[in-house]
Amino acid sequence: MSSILRIALQKSGRLSEDSYQLFKECGIRFDYGTGKLKSVSSNFPAEFLFLRDDDIPGYVEDGVADLGIVGENVAVESTHQVETVHRLGFSKCRLSLAIPRGTDWNGIQDLDGKSIATSYPRILGDYLTYHNVSAEIHQISGSVEIAPGIGLAEAICDIVSSGSTLLSNGLKEVEVIFRSEAILIARTTLDAEKQRLLDKLLFRIKAVQAAKNNKYIVLNAPNEALEQITSLLPGMKSPSVMPLATAGWSSVHSVINENDFWENIEAIRSAGAEGILVIPIEKMIY
Ligand code: PRP
Ligand code: ZN
Repeated sequence: MSSILRIALQKSGRLSEDSYQLFKECGIRFDYGTGKLKSVSSNFPAEFLFLRDDDIPGYVEDGVADLGIVGENVAVESTHQVETVHRLGFSKCRLSLAIPRGTDWNGIQDLDGKSIATSYPRILGDYLTYHNVSAEIHQISGSVEIAPGIGLAEAICDIVSSGSTLLSNGLKEVEVIFRSEAILIARTTLDAEKQRLLDKLLFRIKAVQAAKNNKYIVLNAPNEALEQITSLLPGMKSPSVMPLATAGWSSVHSVINENDFWENIEAIRSAGAEGILVIPIEKMIY
């Protein structure tokens, strides 16, 4: 029997574009954006469902979908039992407390006895309890940022990404209570065939992520500096070293991690490397 993975994605919002892009980079094709509610991939056993992000954990728990991509904020706030399979590293944002710009702020205790509007009552409630603050939580499902302006609450707790929503509503961020990014969630019980498809998908996602975190580097080095330079460039196994037509020089090819890039590149240059080329990698398989 041939199985198919049902994958729930946010229909339109902060996570949508990056989610579509991830599957594209994994070589999985499907149509989206035409107002469709679902779409079957033409080259991978997957069907995509386009839903409101807040509903995705519930659909995954119920088995309507096998997998979903949501913000960690949505998964943690939800009471639905799902498994976090993998962190995706995109759509980073924070859940923060914000107050009207002209108001003083001396710390979280300032909210004692106040009212706070949010769509995240559980995460906020835990945070307040932890800090021994008793405030009234007004749960609202959208446009939280207008609450102080209409006298509904004295503070808000909402998602901040660029900060422009807060700015245009006269609010200032005073405390970050949770940092979030997109995650891949799965139903807690997947049968063996679906698990096999999930493993296949994860293999591709990891190759795409590794490629993003690394660069291909090519440089020329005087032979006497080779030992020092190759020690700075471990590569996937070890760097490739090939003689140049000019005597006494070699070409070195390797892979360098994005995080160490600027620091290592300076050390490599001062060791005598020249003609350094840094090239993006499309896929990287360990
Ligand atoms: C959040 C939040 C703000 C906006 C903040 O909404 O509610 O409206 O993003 O982003 P900014 O700091 O870049 O202005 P979210 O994307 O979670 O959408 P949703 O509430 O409709 O799910
Ligand atoms: Zn949402």
